[in-house]
Amino acid sequence: MSSIYNFDKQISREGTDSVKYDLRKDIFGTQNVIPMWVADMDFATPDFILDAIRQRADKEILGYSYRGEMLMKAIREWLIKRHNWTTKTDWYLFTPGVVPALNLAVLAYTQPGDEVIVQPPVYFPFYSAVKDHGRKLICNPLKIEQGKYFFDLEDLKNKINKKTKLLILCSPHNPVGRVWHKEELVELMNICLENNILVVSDEIHSDLVFEPNKHIPLASVSEEISDHCITFMAPSKTFNTAGLFTSEVIIKDEKLRQQFSKQIDALHIGWCNVFGNVALQSAYEMGESWLTQMLNYVSNNISYTYKYLEENLPDISFQRPEATYLLWLNFQKTKMDDDEIWKMLINDAGVGLNKGLQFGKEGKGYMRMNVACPRDTLENALNNISNTLKLEQDANNLL
Ligand SMILES: Cc1ncc(COP(=O)(O)O)c(C=O)c1O
Repeated sequence: MSSIYNFDKQISREGTDSVKYDLRKDIFGTQNVIPMWVADMDFATPDFILDAIRQRADKEILGYSYRGEMLMKAIREWLIKRHNWTTKTDWYLFTPGVVPALNLAVLAYTQPGDEVIVQPPVYFPFYSAVKDHGRKLICNPLKIEQGKYFFDLEDLKNKINKKTKLLILCSPHNPVGRVWHKEELVELMNICLENNILVVSDEIHSDLVFEPNKHIPLASVSEEISDHCITFMAPSKTFNTAGLFTSEVIIKDEKLRQQFSKQIDALHIGWCNVFGNVALQSAYEMGESWLTQMLNYVSNNISYTYKYLEENLPDISFQRPEATYLLWLNFQKTKMDDDEIWKMLINDAGVGLNKGLQFGKEGKGYMRMNVACPRDTLENALNNISNTLKLEQDANNLL
């Protein structure tokens, strides 16, 4: 019988060198905020992962290790059962995180001066992965129709030229929470195929999808597409193991794989983290029931927030995310500028979010809120924001 997990449990993360908790002073100027920013969860990493790590630690020696057959099998089977994607284990490479993989892809497939497309508002390391290596960043912003984000394919066509070599896709998309439909992916890929643009598909959020949405791995769409894209995935967001820096790169085309592998070898980062290995394997072998329960809890947190804002803070709104535990909150109706919102949240409400502008200029008037936390934490944060804005409104009325 599978366990029932308690996501209401408050776990103290202070004093664990947690980026989210212990760096608040650096980020917000004060430790005194409820941290709802960086994308990890305030839920316990599942017991079956912690047990597997403990059992490995009990073997007493943590020397060099490699990735064995069982680990490869666990990935292969996870991809079949969760994403209906049949892969070969020869296609897998590994990196210490997806952000390093983004940078390696830019080095592997482009030359200085080449153009690389990203689709803002988007996870900010996409920008630095292009710019830090002397490549030219081209933005193809998503367009908004009735509050929902879509690819802007006309703009994409206009931005492509002979120097355009790569497009970095975020699928599902952080921060806007879209799960791209098959038709949307095909339309995007038709343009990329016609123009010989390779697509790097960052699918780190692919397991965090809410029903009835369904993640479609880009490389599973067709044979032709699978030869013109590479995929990044990881158990780290899904199972709260980001501190173990272990992620997969899946590349079907042999030449593309060799090019990527060369970068890994040049930096000697191909070996693995012993605990990262163990965590990945146990997550993919045993994670389904925990994941279902976690997604259900987060989905309820999202519904709770939606209703709370509707009833108490109608000037703040969001489009329900199809995936991820990140809410892309629109503050534009408050008529406050970004600095005012930021100061109000930190100094008055005591809530630490990510600035929308971090994700590109398209994030003006937005803040990103991480709701992978116990309900109590979420309630406190929302009450703080609501009380603060009410006080400000009352003060304005008196003027
Ligand atoms: C789209 C996306 N890619 C990559 C990462 C981080 O990957 P890693 O910690 O494996 O470098 C995140 C974290 O939020 C993300 O949202």
